[in-house]
Amino acid sequence: MVDGLRQLAPFSGLDAGSLASVVARLETIAVGDGGVVVAEGDAGDAMYFIVRGAFHVERRGEDGAPRAVAELREGEFFGEMSLLSGAPRFATVVGRGEGELLRLGRSELEAVAAVHPEVRAVLERFYKERLVANVVRASRLFRIIGEARPDTLAEVVRVETHPAGAVLLEQGAPGKKFCLLLRGTCDVFHRTSDGREVPYAAMAEGDVFGELSLLQEQPVTATVRTRTRCVLLAMAPEWFDQLLRDNPAARSAIYDLAGERSQRTRELIVREELQRRLI
Ligand code: CMP
Repeated sequence: MVDGLRQLAPFSGLDAGSLASVVARLETIAVGDGGVVVAEGDAGDAMYFIVRGAFHVERRGEDGAPRAVAELREGEFFGEMSLLSGAPRFATVVGRGEGELLRLGRSELEAVAAVHPEVRAVLERFYKERLVANVVRASRLFRIIGEARPDTLAEVVRVETHPAGAVLLEQGAPGKKFCLLLRGTCDVFHRTSDGREVPYAAMAEGDVFGELSLLQEQPVTATVRTRTRCVLLAMAPEWFDQLLRDNPAARSAIYDLAGERSQRTRELIVREELQRRLI
């Protein structure tokens, strides 16, 4: 068991004594064909290492229908994403044929990672790469970006998790990041000169924001606040600038989006001004 565990990427650097302490925290689970191990949207309390068998990973598309994301086999693992982010399960994982797993619960993982920070570092690398892979699949804009820089996208984005009610961008403040929403919902609103909040359409998974202020080098034009717990990918302004310079297809997609949005903001401000004069 100890030798088998060393084949798993997160544990490859541990000595025999440390591996034995991990083994003591693992629980063996048998899974039948079609058995759902984790379900998209559920809360996550454990991660799983595959000892034997194949496991199918799928996510719901915009139409609600499941889409295949990956096939995982012996030596691979899953369930780390919600443990690391605190967000609901990002995908459903189902057994294909008979399989066997090792289950590591949240508190057990925390105990191992407290002594061996490299275990968490490996899991975080996989987590980020998988997030990027999923998002490239789900968002047209990120697909364009990913096609031009497939190797570097995971390096230039930061994964952020925010509780409900957090202000991500504040109207009037300097632009600080280009964001892609991966999980959760954000409210977007314009604050009028007399302090009222006028809502725009809410942001859902796959939506991007923060591009207008960076493109125009002007203060943020609307406040973005999380409605639920949210996970997002954020790109710093210098990477955003480089992206625009290096990738003409991404530049034109981002400019189109920004054009539509600033037109909507202008219309809203004109409407507000007219209403104010009529009152
Ligand atoms: P979690 O969100 O906790 O539960 C579902 C798991 O599916 C997720 O963690 C990942 O381990 C796994 N998963 C999600 N997306 C991918 C992907 N693109 N490739 C491989 N595994 C994935």
